[in-house]
Amino acid sequence: MAMPTRILRLAMIGGGPGSFIGPVHRMAAGLDGRFALAAGVFSRDPHKSQQAGATFGIDATRVYGDYDELLTLERRRKDPVDVVAIVTPNHLHFPIARAALEKGFAVISDKPATATLVEAQELQRVVERTGGFYALTYTYSGYPLVREARARVAAGEIGAVRKIIVEYSQGWLSERVELTGQRQAQWRCDPAQSGVGGCSGDIGVHAFQLLEFVSGRRVVELCADVSTVVAGRALDDDCNVLLRLDNGAPAVLHATQIGAGERNGLRLRVYGESGAIEWAQESPNRLCIHRPDGTTQIVHAGASALSPAARAVTRLPSGHPEGYVEAFANIYRDVAERLIERGEPTALCGIEVGVRGMAFIECALANSRARAGWSRLTP
Ligand SMILES: NC(=O)c1ccc[n+]([C@@H]2O[C@H](COP(=O)([O-])OP(=O)(O)OC[C@H]3O[C@@H](n4cnc5c(N)ncnc54)[C@H](O)[C@@H]3O)[C@@H](O)[C@H]2O)c1
Repeated sequence: MAMPTRILRLAMIGGGPGSFIGPVHRMAAGLDGRFALAAGVFSRDPHKSQQAGATFGIDATRVYGDYDELLTLERRRKDPVDVVAIVTPNHLHFPIARAALEKGFAVISDKPATATLVEAQELQRVVERTGGFYALTYTYSGYPLVREARARVAAGEIGAVRKIIVEYSQGWLSERVELTGQRQAQWRCDPAQSGVGGCSGDIGVHAFQLLEFVSGRRVVELCADVSTVVAGRALDDDCNVLLRLDNGAPAVLHATQIGAGERNGLRLRVYGESGAIEWAQESPNRLCIHRPDGTTQIVHAGASALSPAARAVTRLPSGHPEGYVEAFANIYRDVAERLIERGEPTALCGIEVGVRGMAFIECALANSRARAGWSRLTP
């Protein structure tokens, strides 16, 4: 890996005290020393935002009242931030990303890209018109063994893809915790802040992205049964979706947040003509290759047998577990490589992936509501 020529100045919107993913972004951005947090609006509450900025060692004049002020005043500086990271609830992703791109800032946004498909398509036009940089943090594609799985499928190691099962099971919303003041649950169960999708938009979209990322195939049709299982909730909390891939192969996507006792059970199985590949997020440092003769090969993280794509994002020798933060940091590293070295990391997810995710959510919801049989998934 080439040495960085400069450190990228990062602004963060969201990620204040008690937030979940903002701190993960900060750890990820800091891990390779390629980003320095220089500005932010960390909370809706200016006092909390200032307090957070002081904790992060940011000059108080660069902790702004809102994102508009941040973008305007940073643009006037001699040393403006290079990149804006968006780690707010979903409904703010679109207005912040659009405004940042319009003002010439690169954008790292958390998923889902926007609150609706129409917004995602509009954002795609903004990215194209401005020629700006936009990346989504689909965390799981940052894991070395997910990149290994992708490389092995692409190299034909399991033959043509015949069937995929992707499952994302959580249980933390099996009761109405959104009524207890739990802030992550509150906004996720509120259509005004979460967007059109509940479970579908929060984790279904991760499962969908992982399926397409690893298999290299596109979903072309779906038939969905999306429910709100816990009474009184305004958004879906359980999704069961049959999919058809562009090579005709069938697939199944299951995502739930009401699976009592489940933690973060994201698991992918890709079955090919000559074998199958399996990865699970709760044991991310092993990849299983199953053969029709009943044998299973376990590929360990850090193994010398890894593909160049996986080796490029491996930080530690085999036997030293890497996890969520390192996977996130690999995405930040990809961004830095693109912005500083002008390389073309192929694993980055841009606005097309964002549009695809929003199309999946809306198509699944509409199909399920209408009991419509099979629906084409476009774009
Ligand atoms: N990539 C992943 O694996 C992953 C995991 C978790 C969450 N996420 C995504 O990250 C985003 C945030 O989720 P979370 O769980 O961290 O939420 P959270 O509620 O923990 O944090 C949201 C933060 O945004 C701040 N905020 C809200 N409105 C703001 C505004 N107008 N200006 C500035 N800050 C504002 C809040 O004060 C809070 O600090 C969501 O879009 C979610 O889908 C992604």
